[in-house]
Amino acid sequence: MNAIPIPTETVVAVPAAMPTPTPAATTDVVSNVVNDVVTLPLDRQPTIRIIPMPADTNANGTIFGGWVMAQVDLAGSVPASERAMGRVVTVAVNSFLFKQPVFVGDLVSFYAQVTKTGRTSITVEVEVYAQRHRFGSEVVKVTEAVLTYVAIDENHKPRPLV
Ligand SMILES: CC(C)(COP(=O)(O)OP(=O)(O)OC[C@H]1O[C@@H](n2cnc3c(N)ncnc32)[C@H](O)[C@@H]1OP(=O)(O)O)[C@@H](O)C(=O)NCCC(=O)NCCS
Repeated sequence: MNAIPIPTETVVAVPAAMPTPTPAATTDVVSNVVNDVVTLPLDRQPTIRIIPMPADTNANGTIFGGWVMAQVDLAGSVPASERAMGRVVTVAVNSFLFKQPVFVGDLVSFYAQVTKTGRTSITVEVEVYAQRHRFGSEVVKVTEAVLTYVAIDENHKPRPLV
């Protein structure tokens, strides 16, 4: 059996040692990326936190992209169904970027928030972070995606948002 590769392109983030963001240094307040130092978002709770297992790997030994996509879809559906106050279905994956691999044993956190609503549709941004060593402080943003959900009625037809 092949050894699981050790991540080489990661960013070490120690929250207590985070530099105080200044307007010039802050590049992305929402995802807490400051001068390439990454922490988990401080202003939100993750919708899902999960640890992938060996059964979730692909032929390279890293986590299968389809597994990540399934978790992203589930995570995004949570704020979407809350906003819809009922059942939703996914109508589109507008964008999906695998920025870094996920490894067995990572603690993976999915942050989802509604960014847009239409008559029946709800668009959600999902950001995914991996803590490489669960009890350490190494945090990597691994995926970002935008999905659109549609509120549906009991006949599976689009239902206007209220
Ligand atoms: C989602 C579904 C109910 C939409 O039905 P429809 O008759 O095509 O409905 P509409 O054309 O009125 O579109 C509904 C909304 O989706 C939006 N939409 C449709 N296609 C879209 C796309 N490619 N990207 C973004 N939004 C889209 C529309 O703009 C509309 O939004 P609005 O009401 O806010 O303006 C239907 O396509 C469906 O059941 N799809 C299968 C869903 C599914 O099985 N998903 C996987 C498992 S959850």
